[in-house]
Amino acid sequence: MYKSTAAAYSNLAFVKYWGKIDHEINLPANGSISMNLSGAKTTTTVEFSRDFAADEVFTGSDAQAASPAFTARVSKHLDKMRQMANLYLPARVATANSFPMSAGFASSASGMAALTVAGVTALGLDLSERELSILARSASGSACRSIPAGFAEWKAGNSHETSYAAQLAPPEHWAIMDVAVVVSHAEKRISSSLGHRLVEQSLFWDARLESVPKRLDTVRAAILNRDFETFGRELETEAISMHAIAMTSSNTELKGWHSGIYYWLPDTLELIMAVQNWRSDGLPVYLTLDAGPTVHLICPAEHRDSVVQAVKSLEQNRADRQWSIIVSEPAGGAHTI
Ligand code: DP6
Repeated sequence: MYKSTAAAYSNLAFVKYWGKIDHEINLPANGSISMNLSGAKTTTTVEFSRDFAADEVFTGSDAQAASPAFTARVSKHLDKMRQMANLYLPARVATANSFPMSAGFASSASGMAALTVAGVTALGLDLSERELSILARSASGSACRSIPAGFAEWKAGNSHETSYAAQLAPPEHWAIMDVAVVVSHAEKRISSSLGHRLVEQSLFWDARLESVPKRLDTVRAAILNRDFETFGRELETEAISMHAIAMTSSNTELKGWHSGIYYWLPDTLELIMAVQNWRSDGLPVYLTLDAGPTVHLICPAEHRDSVVQAVKSLEQNRADRQWSIIVSEPAGGAHTI
């Protein structure tokens, strides 16, 4: 029977993937470093059968039919696996996230990693972790980092075969937490795939590219040495560097001309400023953001409750706020169930 279920966690980048040299196969402009998030899991079942007329994709715990665009994306990825197995059967795919789609987690990371592992297993293909990471990358760049467990480094490489993520340290290596503050559930107006395409519009793009190799060295060493202060300073500076590129990526993708992409909302900025104050008051917490308004607060595990409390007090400053908080510790890799 050609059927398998797999689970994968989303990941949070401390050194970001922002900008590509090949948009078709997701070859990144630079390497990146991330941690898998226990609070953001996708579980996916893939079944291939000649009884099905065409690929069908269902999402969520209530198995809603997926949009044609998402179904096409899944089919395209399954095609690569069918070709590898030389087995051309239609598939039924059911996928569900443990977190809201719009929470500001890279749902394509956990989604495409889980789809990769479930698909190849269902087809009886025996791939190494490296091969799985390469395959997942071709569906969504960040998905390659959700294959290994714990902390991962994606070596940029310069070809399909040389661009993949490998484990930097297992989940139990370091007890740090991500307190993700979801300030809005509205869909973002510029996808990360489009953001990747616009980086060269930024005047600061070359300067960013020059700075990343040293940052990769610093963040890698800080993780391996469990040096929280160095780690925190670098990851926060890195997030602002990525957003500085976005904010200066001028474009006409939306109605009219825009000087740049603002993924932040007023609440995002308020949290950024609050984090600086909390740190001045002695709380060890730093922040990072992906291509959305969600603020990820990184702290040592023993300070988790204080960080959550600080966020709740800030939220209560205004009655109209409805934030949600998703707490994660370093999680395992993509695996079959
Ligand atoms: C801001 O992996 O979503 O989260 O390869 O086009 O699918 P595609 O892009 P995607 O980009 C993620 C960008 C980011 C930073 C990161 O995860 O490193």
